[in-house]
Amino acid sequence: MPQVHISTHPLVQHKLSLMRDQRTDPKKFRELLREVAVLVAYEASADLATEEVNVMSPMGPAKCLSVSERVGLVPILRAGLGMVEGIWNMMPNAEVWHVGLRRDEQTLEPIEYYSRRPVDPIVDVCMVIDPMLATGGSAVTAVDILKAWGAHRIKFVGIIAAPEGVKRLTEAHPDVEIYLAVIDERLNEAGLIVPGLGDAGDRQFGTG
Ligand code: PRP
Repeated sequence: MPQVHISTHPLVQHKLSLMRDQRTDPKKFRELLREVAVLVAYEASADLATEEVNVMSPMGPAKCLSVSERVGLVPILRAGLGMVEGIWNMMPNAEVWHVGLRRDEQTLEPIEYYSRRPVDPIVDVCMVIDPMLATGGSAVTAVDILKAWGAHRIKFVGIIAAPEGVKRLTEAHPDVEIYLAVIDERLNEAGLIVPGLGDAGDRQFGTG
């Protein structure tokens, strides 16, 4: 699947191992989530367009490059929130649009409880941000929402996925590039990724 990109960076894999460890407390978990998010987003942003700019350095004029595309960061609440800050620091001009989805515990299908359409929802690239791609229902719904708002180039930036979620997202939205740290073995009956890292929302917010 050419649209699925799995990071092979040693730092990503090292930090992911620490995130999986059940002994990792919420403070450390949030720190690791932020760091891995930045590293995965670094890879997801490698094809952003640039333009030439002229800068005067202390040594004289320099022809440089500047990112010329507008980026929208779209965290899926709650768990996506912890990934935003680090990515936003790297791209401080990005807009941040929030989408609130939670899974129905019986059906595992996403329920939309918040999505605030920006006044002018026009950017060049949207990055949907969520650490977990489990059944894929939340990611597919978030992309549906963005497309309904007029977004045309959309990437998914996550951390951990089940094969089922990757399949569902690529089938529903084959145009969406997916960036992850890892694809695990499978989903269990409760819709959690195995071996996974538990529930990324609960582990960040201490609600598990
Ligand atoms: C989790 C996770 C994703 C979603 C993934 O959120 O953060 O948003 O499930 O599952 P899916 O691929 O099967 O849709 P959850 O619904 O637990 O809400 P939370 O982020 O508020 O904890």
